[in-house]
Amino acid sequence: MSYNLLKGKKGIIFGALDENSIAWKTAERVHEEGGTFVLTNAPVAMRMGQINELAEKTGSQIIPADATSEEDLQNLVEKSMEILGGKIDFVLHSIGMSINVRKGKHYTDQNYAWTQKGTDVSAMSFHKTMQTLYKADAMNEWGSIVALTYMAAQRVFPDYNDMADNKAYLESIARSFGYFFGRDKKVRVNTISQSPTPTTAGSGVKGFDGFIAYADKMSPLGNATAMDCANYIVSLFSDLTKRVTLQNLYNDGGFSNMGVSDAVMDAFVENQ
Ligand code: NAI
Repeated sequence: MSYNLLKGKKGIIFGALDENSIAWKTAERVHEEGGTFVLTNAPVAMRMGQINELAEKTGSQIIPADATSEEDLQNLVEKSMEILGGKIDFVLHSIGMSINVRKGKHYTDQNYAWTQKGTDVSAMSFHKTMQTLYKADAMNEWGSIVALTYMAAQRVFPDYNDMADNKAYLESIARSFGYFFGRDKKVRVNTISQSPTPTTAGSGVKGFDGFIAYADKMSPLGNATAMDCANYIVSLFSDLTKRVTLQNLYNDGGFSNMGVSDAVMDAFVENQ
């Protein structure tokens, strides 16, 4: 259902790889709500992904950018303003990657070159994106910037590996940069902490099936889907959330405030 919540708003959406991506669903929902945007992803991901299909469907243009490259980001912001015909109202940072996770390197046996790369891609890229937007004065007043995170930033999930540290860093950047963006440009910055979701990045985490089933059984409303996340992002891009900023917002069916649920307790007792 469309409410025209984003009519006339212009933005940039990072991270749509395939139709499972949270960014993909978000692009579809933003389009339905009347928003226009530029799609971007790392050049290498474009060869693997199906982003052209999404661009066609949503009438969007694609600008490749490696989110760790300041030069690429500057080009992205400049070109986006040209294409969209002015300043930007919303940005979604939906980027995450850990080489240690991908290559099965244990948290206690990290390859630090990989750790550094993962931090650059998953967290520092958010700072770089915001610094580029800030310096170019590219955001309209009352604009909204959202990044995606996971609760391993607050609590221990052993197989989430160095991504837990990356997410803690990402959430801190949202608060720290959010202060300056709010004070100087009236732009809000938030992170959404999403349930485990079956996407390329999500499924890369060791033991993901158990992870997702456990979270679902623990949450009174069940896991939030990629579409639920897209809807939440739409609300944060809309004028209905104008003074929500510096927040880490849970979209997780209630998981983050649970101790134990009946369903998990039952499974635990059965297996004794
Ligand atoms: P996805 O694999 O569809 O999206 C990750 C995206 O990051 C891909 O499009 C990839 O090309 C992009 N990317 C990687 N390196 C890049 C670079 N150097 N420059 C630009 N883009 C780059 O997976 P998903 O799940 O949609 O991930 C989106 C965000 O949601 C990530 O931040 C992820 O950590 C977060 N998240 C995912 C959860 C899950 O269980 N899937 C749970 C909570 C948060």
